[in-house]
Amino acid sequence: MSRVVVTGRVPEAAIEKLRAEHEVDAWQGQESIGREELLRRVAGADAVVSLLTERVDSELLDAAGPQLRVVANVAVGYDNIDVPACTERGIVATNTPGVLTDATADIAFGLILLATRRLGEGERLIRSGQPWKWGMSFLLGSSLQGKTLGIVGMGGIGRATALRAKAFGMDIVYQSRSEIDPRIAAELGARRVDLDELLGISDIVSLHCPYGPATHHLIGAEQLAAMKDSAYLINTARGPIVDEAALTSALRGKQIAGAGLDVFENEPRVHPGLLELENVVLVPHLGSATVETRTAMAMLAADNTLAVLSDERPPAPIN
Ligand code: GLV
Ligand code: GLV
Repeated sequence: MSRVVVTGRVPEAAIEKLRAEHEVDAWQGQESIGREELLRRVAGADAVVSLLTERVDSELLDAAGPQLRVVANVAVGYDNIDVPACTERGIVATNTPGVLTDATADIAFGLILLATRRLGEGERLIRSGQPWKWGMSFLLGSSLQGKTLGIVGMGGIGRATALRAKAFGMDIVYQSRSEIDPRIAAELGARRVDLDELLGISDIVSLHCPYGPATHHLIGAEQLAAMKDSAYLINTARGPIVDEAALTSALRGKQIAGAGLDVFENEPRVHPGLLELENVVLVPHLGSATVETRTAMAMLAADNTLAVLSDERPPAPIN
């Protein structure tokens, strides 16, 4: 029996699966676990199942102790984990790729529709109680058919977003560290370009790359200026990929037409300037937030944990 610490609320099925083999200490608070409480609880843990709101760094690994064998993140992004610090200590780090691909691509496409068709504005207008009526030029947005979607980061979620765009009759370009399978590229009709070209020709730019030092503020003032003034920026990846202050200025100055954001630079805070703008849609990090997807993520994290604790290769190792 090993000791497994779960740092936040996860679907019960995953807890039961872990509990069948191990002693499980799962944080049940509605609020996220405080840092002090977290450091206290992980002491003596063989496994930590972490949520993306918890920073897993040297301090936490040291607080856990040398018996710690696995950190299983319940997320595909793992910028909350200091992976080299895990590797140094012989700790396996894992994530949950695949299971949230469609849910996140759905949210990306939802934001594309919300932003381009001004649905957020329309919703706010009706709720405000102000009079409105149908008119030929009332709340006109822009169509997607025949427009170009530029995908930054063509991993699973980027490809799933491209598939949706294809169904909407869009042209697709992408920027990616590596070329994707040529058959998939042909099926999607997707052409690989560099970031500069992508920014200049896309009507919608959607971000699907991981966050790290290489992508910090990948989209800043200069990149926003390179976009068409009729273009939209969509971010369902990680907040700090975009310089939020620069985006606020670009939206305020109508340098771009609009934006749809599911993630923010300093969650849960949102740049106050964004809240005052009509041409941005803001949703609170809901990319993977479906019952089915969250359950699958937690089950995969449990499988990763159980595999490492029984000396097997986990399904989704990072290091
Ligand atoms: C969600 O943001 C994830 O990385 O899984
Ligand atoms: C719009 O509501 C239409 O009927 O064209």
